[in-house]
Amino acid sequence: MTAPFFETMPRIIGHRGAKGLAPENTLASFKVAANAGAKSIEIDVTVTRDNNAIIHHDSNVTRCTNGQGPILLKSLEQVRALDAGSWFSAQYTGEKIPTLSEALLSVKQLGMSLNLEVKPTKGWQVPTAELVGRQLQKELQEDFPILLSSFSIEALATIGKIVPNVPLGYLTEAIPPDWEKRMQDAGAASFHCQGEFVTKDIVLAVQKAGFKFLVYTVNDPEYAKQLLNWNVDAIITDYPDILLPLCEG
Ligand code: G3P
Ligand code: MG
Repeated sequence: MTAPFFETMPRIIGHRGAKGLAPENTLASFKVAANAGAKSIEIDVTVTRDNNAIIHHDSNVTRCTNGQGPILLKSLEQVRALDAGSWFSAQYTGEKIPTLSEALLSVKQLGMSLNLEVKPTKGWQVPTAELVGRQLQKELQEDFPILLSSFSIEALATIGKIVPNVPLGYLTEAIPPDWEKRMQDAGAASFHCQGEFVTKDIVLAVQKAGFKFLVYTVNDPEYAKQLLNWNVDAIITDYPDILLPLCEG
């Protein structure tokens, strides 16, 4: 049984750690988010050829490392040999793609909660959810507040059976007309949609149906203020340093 994520959920959550301030989805990015005052971060998890869960957004390593090619065709050893920091800035040279275990430990040590997005390579939704679920079953500590999210209903339904006590979030870009059915099919407790598609009415409707409403990725403080006024439960941002002051005092 894990501590309920929503009870401690802050209104501002760092995206991929603090994507705007440090190389996304690295331990350095988690630290930078914590140093900026974030109490929670979102990160992405995917799997390697040899069934290891690692923290990376894209299904290939080209954009965010010095390597190239699909992660699903690489071993953990090959992934770990990559430099995941210097593409962002020389200051982060040598930063590695974290394993899921390292990420869980780091986020806990930094005193933050975690929104772990299950990010399968397309076609690998079920194996990814199964692998991540089984690892969480073994490694999650009872008091660690975690929310699992995904764009894939299949992945959510799969992982929900493996770790039934962990809350699930359904990710979408636009608001699908059948959002309530999708939430049910996914077994989701929270609805996460892209900032530009949010309206005051949909926030109300989703919350009235009993779900939390989270918005990604919002970096403009004026728009963030409007969303907070519309009572969204949380905003996921690349710049926790800029949005956190909106919720102080
Ligand atoms: O979880 C919110 C957000 O991260 C979803 O989109 O592409 O940044 O993973 P993406
Ligand atoms: Mg994500």
